[in-house]
Amino acid sequence: MEAMERVAIRAAHAAGRIHLKRLSHANISRKSNAIDLVTEADHESEAAVIDVLQRSFPDHTILAEEGSGSSSAAGEHRWVIDPLDGTTNFAHTFPQFCVSIAYERRGRVQLAVIFDALKRELFVARRGAGASLNRKPIRVSHVRTLEMSLLATGFPYDRRERRRFYLCFWEAFMLRTHGVRRTGSAALDLAWVACGRVDAFWEFGLKPWDVAAGSLLVEEAGGHVSNMDGTTLDIGAAQILASNGRLHQYMIEAFAAIRPEAERRHAEMLREAQSSRSTDHS
Ligand code: IPD
Ligand code: CA
Ligand code: CA
Repeated sequence: MEAMERVAIRAAHAAGRIHLKRLSHANISRKSNAIDLVTEADHESEAAVIDVLQRSFPDHTILAEEGSGSSSAAGEHRWVIDPLDGTTNFAHTFPQFCVSIAYERRGRVQLAVIFDALKRELFVARRGAGASLNRKPIRVSHVRTLEMSLLATGFPYDRRERRRFYLCFWEAFMLRTHGVRRTGSAALDLAWVACGRVDAFWEFGLKPWDVAAGSLLVEEAGGHVSNMDGTTLDIGAAQILASNGRLHQYMIEAFAAIRPEAERRHAEMLREAQSSRSTDHS
């Protein structure tokens, strides 16, 4: 596993060099919709990461966000890669983005590397061996109550269509905590839970490459990750709750309490949209 860690760090540095080189002249295009962006740096750093990994592990399968991996099927050994997490930030030179690389064995993440090239922060975790930031061990925070906590969240790319649903959680936690941050990089949000800069993080609509590495970092730093109802995290299930552990049960209870109202507001928004369409056509 040490050898794999060295290779993964080499791959992360290769991506980081591309991030720094391309920042300020990101060539931007759209993916699924007008706010889902991709840049040349996403593609170039993905190719660089895959190149480094495949030289050492030609038989391993790869799941990479921009789709240039050999295969997405989970084999015995699989690498899950977000070559540039925080693309919208990157496209605007907002300094919060990273590369995220996870190695899974039989579907379970064993190794995590997240590299923020601008801040020169390298987060590494190995299952059972702890988590580190620039080689120094890290731990989650000690905060015990929501009232004393700082949380992070993000909004997925269907945020315009489902805004009232997502904002309902934002509003509820804004009222219960010291504050909620939206940094624009889910992988760094998780790494920051791991090193205690924020006490918990939640987001809907995430993909495996957003959370694979960060979830191991949180666990190895003494925190907890799960689906929002507290069941075992499924990185394919498009949702995550990560915390310092102490806040986990409070967060689960809060989600259960907020959710019916969030769904009600979303349904109301759909009805309003429907009725304004019918008025337009009459
Ligand atoms: C996005 C970021 C963002 C989160 C989005 C992700 P990308 O990843 O992690 O913080 O809110 O849901 O899709 O597109 O920059 O790799
Ligand atoms: Ca991402
Ligand atoms: Ca990405």
